[in-house]
Amino acid sequence: MYQDLHASFAVRNHGSVAPSQVDPPLRVGLLGLGTVGAGTYRVLQRNANLIAARSGRRIEIAMVAVRNLARAASLVDRDAVLVDDPFQVVNHPDIDVVVEVIGGTTIAKELVLQAIANGKHVVTANKALLALHGSEIFAAAQAQGVVVAYEGAVAVSIPIIKALREGMTANRIEWIAGIINGTTNYILSEMKTKGASFADALADAQRLGFAEADPAFDVQGTDAAHKLTLLASNAFGVPTRFDKVHVEGIAQLESADIAFAERLGYRVKLLGIAKRGAQGLELRVHPTLIAADHLLAHVNGSMNAVMVKSDAAGVTLYYGAGAGSEQTASAVIADLVDLCRTADTSHRHRVPYLAFQPTAMVDLAVAAIADVVSRYYLRLDVASQTRTVPKILGHLAEAGVRVQQLEVFDHPSDQALNAMVLLTDPTQEHVLRGALAALELWPSVMGFVKTIRMEHLD
Ligand code: HSE
Repeated sequence: MYQDLHASFAVRNHGSVAPSQVDPPLRVGLLGLGTVGAGTYRVLQRNANLIAARSGRRIEIAMVAVRNLARAASLVDRDAVLVDDPFQVVNHPDIDVVVEVIGGTTIAKELVLQAIANGKHVVTANKALLALHGSEIFAAAQAQGVVVAYEGAVAVSIPIIKALREGMTANRIEWIAGIINGTTNYILSEMKTKGASFADALADAQRLGFAEADPAFDVQGTDAAHKLTLLASNAFGVPTRFDKVHVEGIAQLESADIAFAERLGYRVKLLGIAKRGAQGLELRVHPTLIAADHLLAHVNGSMNAVMVKSDAAGVTLYYGAGAGSEQTASAVIADLVDLCRTADTSHRHRVPYLAFQPTAMVDLAVAAIADVVSRYYLRLDVASQTRTVPKILGHLAEAGVRVQQLEVFDHPSDQALNAMVLLTDPTQEHVLRGALAALELWPSVMGFVKTIRMEHLD
């Protein structure tokens, strides 16, 4: 027997917000009461009147599925029914919308598909789930005529999905470049401004609730790649193709290269880039040198920013918190408010899941990273600069790599070596890799050449 959720709602005094007293509430089943779930619950309680005044309906958290019932009982009031089986929520006939904030791609996928099969709308902040299984989930939702909303999945507080899906609909988008992982941006900022170690900065990011349950997703660039997948689909009308994203994280970055880049007037940021390139669609996440006076260079801590270049609007920039409990809740609740307004409309009048009508999506070819053209920062550790430098420059020129700037610094840890830093002209990746592979065999070049891509973003 299902519990009657209507009967469990106490009549609460939320002031004199007329619509919420007339219209039935939107009944939400919340899956998970971790960082995002608890934030969502808190903000919905705190701003109930304000939210109802905007949405026209009260949003009631009717059921909450949690692992630890005792802990949850201290966080939610007694109007919400607590269960430890999330399938009870997605199968409950009185739930209108399921908010999935448990994360992961196994149980979460089953729950979301089950909710959709039951005709329920879904709001999720689960970027991994949608990046990997978006096509299947959106197709199922389309067949059922239900909404799957995910503003909280990308750059949490920034309404970038709304901007792309609604604000930019007139435009042919050329590229998107963004700092879309709060944890890594926090780590890079702490290392630069406070000289913090990578490990300490990461531990801080975990303590502050920015990092993924498995922080390797942040550090290795996977989380940013999940978000980039969704951005690219919304920008270009391509299906979710996480498998095509070239991903490099910040784990291999050396503080010496961050410092050398600084001295040359650049900052290193982990960027997600989706771009219509000459060789196809470019989808890539990697540390990137950007000019120190570029707007994105000033995005610090756990903040995110997404820059969009389009033909009519030109360059637009969106900035805000990229991680955090209530920061993500803000987006999750915005999706719920949208649902309050549109749940009664016919499905074809709703905004398409990925900005384009499902029948208009085109699986554009994605360029192989070897074919992508970029400028590069290179650092070679050389034994003696006097004779080696001209020889290296000659070799690179012969291989088709033109050098724009050359600086030689003291090596950070070995007095017998020099750090030779080169900034190249735009070069196709396979040309560069071929040239460097040969150089790395030279006895005067120590170890691997460090490479970081550069972007102008102008
Ligand atoms: N771990 C993610 C980040 C959380 O640091 O950006 C927000 O998606």
